[in-house]
Amino acid sequence: MSAYLLAPSIIASDFTKLGDEIAACESAGADWIHVDIMDGHFVPTITVGPLFVEACRRATKLPLDVHLMVSNPDQQLEAFAKAGADRLTVHVETCPNLPQTIEKIKSFGCKAGVTLNPPTSASALDAVLPIVDLVLVMSVTPGYSGQAFMPEMIGKVEEIRNKLDALRSRAFLEVDGGMTVDTLPLMYKAGANVFVAGNSAFKHPLGVGEGIRLLRECVAP
Ligand code: DX5
Ligand code: ZN
Repeated sequence: MSAYLLAPSIIASDFTKLGDEIAACESAGADWIHVDIMDGHFVPTITVGPLFVEACRRATKLPLDVHLMVSNPDQQLEAFAKAGADRLTVHVETCPNLPQTIEKIKSFGCKAGVTLNPPTSASALDAVLPIVDLVLVMSVTPGYSGQAFMPEMIGKVEEIRNKLDALRSRAFLEVDGGMTVDTLPLMYKAGANVFVAGNSAFKHPLGVGEGIRLLRECVAP
């Protein structure tokens, strides 16, 4: 196993052949399947909901890493857990009582993650860092696949890495947005160990298998 995990973002795949796309991710050695839930309110776009997560669940045994870009996520946690999510990640901007939301995710049997938009400072996570299983750093403004990576987020990953290490936390530190063979190594060096990939995986001219293989090999062992 390499020192980092890859989580292809399934909303960048071809939904007319969802099962094949997921199977191709598996064959290429993807570690998790990342599912971007957008509600048209917290972010301008609408993507998919629990029924889609349930379809992914039937297609794979890989962990489903569900990223909730929705207002009022507390109301939706149970539906996504029942649909088969393994990990549920909520935005700090959407949770008035973040510790309570994290505990609620765990009570449904899921691993709990927290994320923050590019303008939100890392200190917004301080209260929950000791209790989360994953921190996700957005390196684009959430809403669409295919946007350019924001290099200003390198410092945020370094800052969170230092905080997690100080707590002796083994939580994953994941990055989402604009990951390519050029940008992934920068975030790896900053301390991240899970990488979401939409465009660079699914839109590779030689197919998703090649896209994932290149992302796997872009950091020297
Ligand atoms: C951003 C989503 C991402 C996105 C990643 O709004 O949360 O997961 O689909 O896509 P790329 O890798 O193309 O930036
Ligand atoms: Zn995402």
